[in-house]
Amino acid sequence: MQAIAQSHPNIALIKYWGKRDAVKNLPAVDSLSLTLGGLWTNMKVGFSSNFNRDELLINGVKDEPNLSRVSQCLDLVVGKNRDFARIESECNFPISAGLASSSSSFSALVVAANMAINKKSDIQLFAAQAGSISGSAARSLMGGIVELTNTSNTIKIKQLSKAKRWPLSVVIAITDKNKKSISSSRAMNLSSRSSPFYSAWIENQSPDMKEARLAVINKDFEKLAAVSEHNCLKMHSVMWTTKPSVVYWNAATLNCMHALRDLQQSGESVFFTMDAGPQIKAVCLPENEARIEKRLAEIDGVVSIMKSGLGGAPSSDISL
Ligand code: PMV
Repeated sequence: MQAIAQSHPNIALIKYWGKRDAVKNLPAVDSLSLTLGGLWTNMKVGFSSNFNRDELLINGVKDEPNLSRVSQCLDLVVGKNRDFARIESECNFPISAGLASSSSSFSALVVAANMAINKKSDIQLFAAQAGSISGSAARSLMGGIVELTNTSNTIKIKQLSKAKRWPLSVVIAITDKNKKSISSSRAMNLSSRSSPFYSAWIENQSPDMKEARLAVINKDFEKLAAVSEHNCLKMHSVMWTTKPSVVYWNAATLNCMHALRDLQQSGESVFFTMDAGPQIKAVCLPENEARIEKRLAEIDGVVSIMKSGLGGAPSSDISL
């Protein structure tokens, strides 16, 4: 009763922020994301009747804060009467810091847990299971560029573009490796209750989805850039106007944004996006990657740079 899976995090270009059902963790809006092939989480899950509690290790260190969500996810996949499990997670990037570690972690956990109990692969079911723990995790069940849409009582994912069809690059400027001050789940609940911009955010998501979907289908970088930056800034405006205000950015985040705007002015094909954290993700064409990396690395407060192409769906042919 043991299995291992590897999954990649995804970053949303058209963001999810807010829930239409907090109990089922259903998102209030549709979303669209890129899967980051260079970043990964490996997850090993083993069930045994000899264990007397669930145990979680992250990068070799016993972890209690994340255990309850992990146990909740296993209850959902296997059932509440299951054996206890030992879960070992390895991640090649900082976790809980706005780099979408929950998307790779919970998608890998769902795949590994289903494999451990010999369940047949069912991507939409796995997406629903992963999504009910972390909204963004559902999008990591397919590679390349993925859209998540809401149906009446669940979600649906669809691959819009395979990784190789449109090979984009993502340069990530890490400006703070510490854990975020407030979890995205808690912050989005506060936003829905207190931001005066929240309803406008929800109402304007469909046109952004339509534009981004079309840009992906036509491989239109400029169109994708414009709608993605705008959607990101709208989400952060909702965060900023939440009571109490949720500001994930730091000075380096802003300086990176300005630098990328300058590069755009000088003709580089690049755009930025940020999630619930201060890291900047610069999406560009592969031929622009080196120049973008060089410019971001010069900025005060950038502590490290990671680069990634687009990645595929979770895999299980790895070892820990
Ligand atoms: O999946 P969660 O609960 O960590 O929420 C993710 C929210 C954002 O990353 C900010 C946006 C998104 O669509 O991924």
